Amino acid sequence: MDIASLLARRARNLDASGIRRIFELGASLKDPINLSIGQPDFPVPDAIKAAAIEAIQSDRNGYTLTQGIAELRAEIESTVSAELGWSFGAETSALVTSGTSGALTLAFLALLEEGDEVILPDPYFLVYPSMAKLCGATPVLCDTYPDFRMTAERVEALMTPRTKIVLYNSPSNPSGVVGTEQDCHDLLELCRSRGVLLISDEIYDAFTYSEARTQATAAGQTMCPSPARFAGAQDDVLLVRGFGKTYGCTGWRLGYAAGPTALMTQMAKLQQYTYVCAPSAFQHAGIAALRADIQPLIDAYEKRRDMVVERLSQVTELAVPGGAFYAFPKVPERLGLTGSQFVERCIEQSLLVIPGGVFSSRDTHFRLSFAAPPTKVEAGLDVLCDLMRA
Ligand SMILES: Cc1ncc(COP(=O)(O)O)c(C=O)c1O
Repeated sequence: MDIASLLARRARNLDASGIRRIFELGASLKDPINLSIGQPDFPVPDAIKAAAIEAIQSDRNGYTLTQGIAELRAEIESTVSAELGWSFGAETSALVTSGTSGALTLAFLALLEEGDEVILPDPYFLVYPSMAKLCGATPVLCDTYPDFRMTAERVEALMTPRTKIVLYNSPSNPSGVVGTEQDCHDLLELCRSRGVLLISDEIYDAFTYSEARTQATAAGQTMCPSPARFAGAQDDVLLVRGFGKTYGCTGWRLGYAAGPTALMTQMAKLQQYTYVCAPSAFQHAGIAALRADIQPLIDAYEKRRDMVVERLSQVTELAVPGGAFYAFPKVPERLGLTGSQFVERCIEQSLLVIPGGVFSSRDTHFRLSFAAPPTKVEAGLDVLCDLMRA
């Protein structure tokens, strides 16, 4: 049978070649300096691992409620209440999802019709435009070069009567840039005034470094600036967060969403007919995760971030990553190379980084991840500085 002729356009039209090529090149290198990885290099803290093992051994392996187990939802809701001042009840519960991707997919499925427009940052997390297209919508890219801030001014110019969603991602993948309080405020007000849903993808919120953090609602705490912090935001912002990056368990597929009741109800219904529920044992581990203190791990990442900024800003243009574990430097123009050509040179020196064109309509930058042992990060920076000084 000619299966290829049966395949849907939605699958055939997706192009995964850019990132696949990098992984293939990586696999062909012997002991590369791999700064392409999008997940932490620390192991899951022991208490969180123990909670997952305990859940499996005590036979908590069946389906859970579609919304997620009550104890985890309660823990999520108290975290979100403390940070953002939100309040929850039976009707406004958080939804535990299969990763942050699961939450975003459910939101897009619940909201988007053929021809709707979704405003995305450029550069973007590489899945966003494809996810919009899978739902029949048109991704509209908001050029955020050179500072990578998705400001209301930049977004407003792209809004049309078909705009349904603005997707905000801070700290950002791939640039690590953190938007300011003012950026968050203005973007929320713009979306409110146009009746557009603002989705805040905060998967890297735990990785927000000292100078980029802001005072949280609860005394003494600081956090990443978020559009979800302003009065009444619970009715206008869909908050999406994950466990994978924060606790080094990307394969556990755990995340959550919270926001306007009418949307949460539809997302829960769609989850029931698709993912069913997030993995049960890891939901139990999620409770231990939210109670764990991972600040020492974040502090260690901040030191690596400082090292990257110090070295690279001497040789090229770099927007300081206030969060996440990425930097998105520009390939110096005088080299006359595209991002892809520069990355080819890096690979010749056994350094693996990702060309900006994988995350953007431009191919002028590259992404490096400092979620790697400091000696590797240092070795990668040596290669980059040599190539950029050449
Ligand atoms: C900005 C952003 N959002 C969402 C995701 C997906 O995360 P998850 O593994 O929780 O589905 C990623 C993963 O790299 C990401 O960088």
